[in-house]
Amino acid sequence: MAEMERTFVAVKPDGLQRGLVGEIVSRFEKRGLKLVGLRLLQVTRQMAETHYGEHKGKPFFDGLVKFITSGPVVAMVWEGKDAIAIARATIGATNPASAAPGTIRGDLAIEIGRNVVHGSDGPESASREIGIFFSENELISGWSRNLDSWLTELVTK
Ligand code: RTP
Ligand code: MG
Repeated sequence: MAEMERTFVAVKPDGLQRGLVGEIVSRFEKRGLKLVGLRLLQVTRQMAETHYGEHKGKPFFDGLVKFITSGPVVAMVWEGKDAIAIARATIGATNPASAAPGTIRGDLAIEIGRNVVHGSDGPESASREIGIFFSENELISGWSRNLDSWLTELVTK
């Protein structure tokens, strides 16, 4: 059975420069995920290298670190049943050129190096990434919405 999950999502610097924060946040809200953490911050080189550690040594790594540290990002944690897969589906394929219309990348981006949003790709990366950007006391979990029972059969208190 699907479980309640948390996932880490970030609007990358291109999303902020292009004024897409509201649009991107809105898509996750409308989908039905619950916002449990939100921060505007400048990512440091050290945070970027840790966050993208799995890509170290790849040809795009240096450009990726430079890009993600080039301006502020909006870091978020979204919660819900199957939140990781749902957020990834809402975001769309890594390369916007092949991302489906209706996804964030398929609607709002054209190139892999400027794909406007990040989303965790599994439970371990979600937990690791949330830990880089948030301390536990910055997350507000378990708040209830009146519409929860219209979004999920798994209403939590
Ligand atoms: P993200 O981590 O940002 O959510 O993206 P993703 O899982 O869909 O893709 P991933 O493989 O984790 O790659 C991380 C980010 O690196 C950039 N990238 N550039 N030039 C390239 O070939 C290339 N490949 C990856 C993208 O910005 C991608 O989102
Ligand atoms: Mg990734």
